[in-house]
Amino acid sequence: MKFPKDLLGIKDLNADQINEILKTAKIMKEIIIKNNKKTPHLQGKTVITLFYENSTRTRLSFELASKYLSANAANVAVASSSVAKGESLIDTARTIDMMGNDALIIRHQSAGAPHLVAANVNASVINAGDGMNEHPTQALLDAYTMLEKKGKLEGLKVAIVGDILHSRVARSNIYLLNKFGAEVTLCAPSTLLPVEIERLNVKAYTDVEKAIKDADVVMGLRMQLERQKKGLFPSIDEYADYFGVNEERIKLAKEDAIILHPGPVNRGVEITSGIYGHERSFIDEQVLNGVAVRMAILYLLTRKGQGEEK
Ligand code: NCD
Repeated sequence: MKFPKDLLGIKDLNADQINEILKTAKIMKEIIIKNNKKTPHLQGKTVITLFYENSTRTRLSFELASKYLSANAANVAVASSSVAKGESLIDTARTIDMMGNDALIIRHQSAGAPHLVAANVNASVINAGDGMNEHPTQALLDAYTMLEKKGKLEGLKVAIVGDILHSRVARSNIYLLNKFGAEVTLCAPSTLLPVEIERLNVKAYTDVEKAIKDADVVMGLRMQLERQKKGLFPSIDEYADYFGVNEERIKLAKEDAIILHPGPVNRGVEITSGIYGHERSFIDEQVLNGVAVRMAILYLLTRKGQGEEK
């Protein structure tokens, strides 16, 4: 199976490659669960994380995934690196590359930054979130979780509720779910729905109850206040009242609907605490699945002969 050098977006992957990642992630999850978290898959390889934006789970899961596979793993602390002295993104990435790096995991506030880096380094570049563009590894772990709980993606009704406009998670999920024949419904105040909605092959609602009705999967997304201009919605309390997913509203979804959220969760805003801890919420399991999926991606992209037919 052929893989490109870099994983920059779901847009660049075909269904076979996605299936291969998800299949490999299943094996990786077994390794984690068996609690013997050391395999030789990445022995002798180096993996560096370079995050220009905050992160808990994405950065740590990449770091642990690398370590579980025996790679040499290191993180560049951007705030205390030469970035603070004015070094450009490309120069920083090339410097890291010169140290013998094999995979560079990058998160950046600008859409397209990982693409620019990928064209200038030898290492495999993995996009861990670029501005409002894509977050491919999140969509892959979400798909993994949906598959694990629902057995298939085709025909699934997935309602994504929250700040869609600013969400790279929503975009990557839409691209992936469209490739597998799932039905995606978005819900947000109209000021937080993307303008390109007609091109996305999704339904969009401003009424959360309509959006959730008969869904198989309800995915909450955080209000990304750090990216928003003022005035996109009246107040957090009002947002929670009109758009928040709560115990009453979830009853409109299918009886066996599952609840997902990429985190970080703002409890009481996009979802209530009761929904976070709901018996059909798999938000905590998404975190574990994130490590397994990232182990799979690191292995498939950096193994010998990557880019060639195997
Ligand atoms: C998301 C991100 O950074 O895009 N978080 C994540 O990676 N799990 C979503 C968010 O910040 O709300």
